[in-house]
Amino acid sequence: MLKGKKILIGITGSIAAYKIPLLIRLLKKEGAEVKVVMTPCAKDFVTPLTLSTLSQQPVLIEPYDKTDGSWNSHVDWGRWADVFILAPVSANTLAKMASGIADNLLTTTYLAAKCPVFFAPAMDLDMFHHPTTRKNIDTLLSYGNHLIAPQEGELASGLCGAGRMEEPEEILRMIRDFFFISNTLSGKKVLISAGPTYELIDPVRFIGNFSSGKMGFALAEDAAARGAQVVLVSGPVDLKPMHPGIRLISVTSAAQMADACFSEFKSSDITIMAAAVADYTVADPAPAKIKKSGNKLMIELSETTDILATLGKRKQEGQFLAGFALETDNEKSNAFSKLKNKNLDMIVLNSLNDQGAGFGYDTNKVTIIMANGAETEVPLKSKKDIAAVILNAIAG
Ligand code: CTP
Repeated sequence: MLKGKKILIGITGSIAAYKIPLLIRLLKKEGAEVKVVMTPCAKDFVTPLTLSTLSQQPVLIEPYDKTDGSWNSHVDWGRWADVFILAPVSANTLAKMASGIADNLLTTTYLAAKCPVFFAPAMDLDMFHHPTTRKNIDTLLSYGNHLIAPQEGELASGLCGAGRMEEPEEILRMIRDFFFISNTLSGKKVLISAGPTYELIDPVRFIGNFSSGKMGFALAEDAAARGAQVVLVSGPVDLKPMHPGIRLISVTSAAQMADACFSEFKSSDITIMAAAVADYTVADPAPAKIKKSGNKLMIELSETTDILATLGKRKQEGQFLAGFALETDNEKSNAFSKLKNKNLDMIVLNSLNDQGAGFGYDTNKVTIIMANGAETEVPLKSKKDIAAVILNAIAG
């Protein structure tokens, strides 16, 4: 499964380091090339000789060789790897990774690495539950790093609870899944729209909506992680794409979003319209700021182009088109009618009636409905997890 894959392992000073020789053996057995970088403190828990014998590669600890001054390039190692697994990650290294501190070869390699990063925190119960640890993990997740969550169990201190590093067999399974998934959309172009649109009333005012863009951005990150070339057309949001495989086209109005989607659609294999596009725009925006007049102000609105319906009319054999629906009554039947009317292959029904779902939240609860009527109810999950469920349903 892992033949020819280049895997860099980073070990820090935690008792769980004793599990890494087994992880290296498992990875080597699957055909992977393995290199190890470790912090000076990690040497107290597992010897460089054990690691170099198992990996059949020299183990790097210091930035340069003190005897002859030769330099161990963190940049080269970071670029060599297809994946960088930092395991175990102590609370100290976790904090350094989250704040960009590069004071040893392992942390400088982390900063230089261009490949996907997995990190496996391992520490005592109370350290794991400290708010700063939670914050640092969240920061790394926001960088697109993958968490290998610690398990509950007996800890080296004798305490029992969360903090125990995941077992090597389970880490191997995650890495196998990762490489499998990272190929499922390779060679495909995926077009995704996200966020709100702003319709100008005058140069300083607009009609907008509360969409944060989080769902569309999560879909874009997930599609890119599966190897797709992603074009993300986004209205005004406070988010930035992390994955280098995402090309962002920033737009403001529904008309600009339509232009961008129409020109990218022809060459797209999969299109997902997650944007909250304005249904109405200001018919005649004022060229200068509108002054108070003491009377009622009437603004005439005209309907915007329905981007999704237009794409549905233009859809060719082999193209997959998905939309979102927000309904307040007869939710499923209204969503299914929308799917049929707009010639879609899938519609994702958003729930407005559930706490923690919809605009602005990091979580969502949806029902995925396919053109053949098959329904999948997805319980409340992070938007990242919902994105994975949606793309699994599309890409398998
Ligand atoms: N959509 C679109 N262009 C528009 C309006 C909506 O492409 N001008 C897309 C949205 O991105 C979403 C889907 O249509 O994927 C459904 O949006 P929704 O607001 O639920 O439905 P509408 O089709 O606008 O119908 P209504 O608001 O009347 O329910």
